[in-house]
Amino acid sequence: MWHRFWDKKEPAKKLVEQIDKNRLPRHIAIIMDGNGRWAKKRALPRSLGHKAGVEALRDIVKACSNLGVGVLTVYAFSTENWSRPREEVNILMSLLTDYLRRELDELHENQVRVQMIGNRDQLPLEAQKELERSMEKTKQNKGLILNLALNYGGRAEITSAVQRLCEKVAQGQIKPEEISEAMFANHLFTFDLPDPDLLIRTSEELRISNFLLWQIAYTEIVVTDCLWPDFNPERLTEAILDFQKRDRRFGGLNKQ
Ligand code: IPE
Ligand code: IPE
Ligand code: MG
Repeated sequence: MWHRFWDKKEPAKKLVEQIDKNRLPRHIAIIMDGNGRWAKKRALPRSLGHKAGVEALRDIVKACSNLGVGVLTVYAFSTENWSRPREEVNILMSLLTDYLRRELDELHENQVRVQMIGNRDQLPLEAQKELERSMEKTKQNKGLILNLALNYGGRAEITSAVQRLCEKVAQGQIKPEEISEAMFANHLFTFDLPDPDLLIRTSEELRISNFLLWQIAYTEIVVTDCLWPDFNPERLTEAILDFQKRDRRFGGLNKQ
């Protein structure tokens, strides 16, 4: 079993104790940004920034599992990231494949269920195979859902939902006026997941970059200047504490 990250460090323990366990975010989504800047600061190639980013991801997955978070969605590769140099794209894809290969047994032992959102068919075959194997092996697990956003774009997701609904209309299975928000959400990649409660973006950028456009309608957003490879379970705990201070009104009025 995984060690709890707060067991060995007193400051981490103090932070975790401040979390209200009854009001944990059920779903945390993270835009893991800043690998390139992290490498640049150290005069290293971008590839080493991505490598360090994978290590950060390992720790965050464990931390979410330790804390009892239900779903962790991580933005690992966007539909726009194909426009990066081919070499960088290849490195990102092979890091993903290696991560799954290396971690699958441990993820499985810890009841993590691996899922993905995004268009799988356009990924390299190796990555597709590794994803398929991971999802199949862990599909009965009841712990944290690790949802990898890969070749994911919010606009592409919405467009494909529209296409599938239009097909159903054209075939007479549904009427246009029967399309509700709930039905629409059921045609997204995230049909089986709750909307994120908390969205974290590392590296300061104040934008969404085509991530979960529909699902984040009422998500609380935390942006940190921490670069993704430096993000760690303590920073995650701080983001959760920040989230727990928010007054989520969903367009209504607060309770006082
Ligand atoms: C995030 O780091 C990783 C991916 C987008 C895949 P970046 O590579 O975007 O790092 P910066 O933004 O250049 O620092
Ligand atoms: C968002 O980061 C995508 C991922 C983290 C996978 P980017 O680095 O691609 O976003 P922009 O280009 O700064 O908007
Ligand atoms: Mg970036």
